[in-house]
Amino acid sequence: MSPRADGAACIGRVSTTELSDSHAHLDFPQFDRDRAQVMERAWRAGVVAVVNPGADLASSRRACDLAAREERVWAAVGIHPHDAGQWAGAAEEIRRLARGPRVVAIGETGLDYYRMLSPAPVQQEALAGHIALARELGLPLILHCRDAYPDMMEILRREKAGEVGGVLHCFSGDEEAARRALNMGFHLGFAGPVTFANAHNLRRVLRVVPLDRLLVETDCPYLAPEPWRGKRNEPAFVARVAEAVAQAKGVPPDRLASITTENARRLFRLP
Ligand code: NI
Repeated sequence: MSPRADGAACIGRVSTTELSDSHAHLDFPQFDRDRAQVMERAWRAGVVAVVNPGADLASSRRACDLAAREERVWAAVGIHPHDAGQWAGAAEEIRRLARGPRVVAIGETGLDYYRMLSPAPVQQEALAGHIALARELGLPLILHCRDAYPDMMEILRREKAGEVGGVLHCFSGDEEAARRALNMGFHLGFAGPVTFANAHNLRRVLRVVPLDRLLVETDCPYLAPEPWRGKRNEPAFVARVAEAVAQAKGVPPDRLASITTENARRLFRLP
C-alpha cells in the first residue's frame, strides 16, 4: 500500500493545528488524476493555506485558475529560472495575471546554476525583471536558488528586492547566505530535505533563522519528506516538514505549525 493511500491520520502529529504549505505545484500534471483527493487529504491534515507558484506562463495561468476555484489555494505568477528564456515574451502577460485577486506573490523566479537549463545571464535578467514587477505591484517574491547564492544576493541587493521581501524557498544555502537573506528582510522556506538523515547543514542553518522568518513547504510533487522520499509529494506531507523543523528549533510541532502559518499569512497578506 502506498503511504498516500493511508489517509491523513498517519501523516503527522500536528494535524490538530493550522499548517500552511508555502510552496506547492498543485497545478502540475502529476496531480491531474487525483487533484481533488490530494487537496482533501491536505485539508484533513490541517493545511489551511497553500501558495501555488507558477513555473512558466501556462503554469501561472493554471495556478490562478486553481486559486479561483479553491478558497485555501493562493497563486503566484512567474517564470522558473529553468525557463528564464520565456520571460521576455511572457512578461506582459505575467504582469496582467499578477493583478488578479488571488495572486499573492511574484514567482517562482531566481537562479539555478546547478542544472543551468538557461544561460546564467538570461536567468539574471529574468530575475531582475521579476523583481522590478514585484516592486511595481508591491508583491513579495518567491525565489528559487541553487548553487547561485552569491549572484542571487548581489542581484537582490542591486535591484532593491528587500523593499518587497519574500521567501528563499527550499533554502539550501549555508549560514552566511541565510544571514545575508535575513538581513535583507527575507523569509527562508524549508522543504522535505530537512527531514533527510544527512541534512546536517540545513539543521545548522535553521539555528540562525528566527522563528518569525520561517516558512514550511513541500515543493510538491518533488522532494517528498521522509518516509516518502522518492515518491510523489503532496501538501499533506508538510506536517512532516513542520515536525522536522520544530525538532531542529526545539519547539513543539503544533507551535511551529501555527507560527509558520502566521508568517505565511503576514508575508502573503492572506485573510
Ligand atoms: Ni517550486
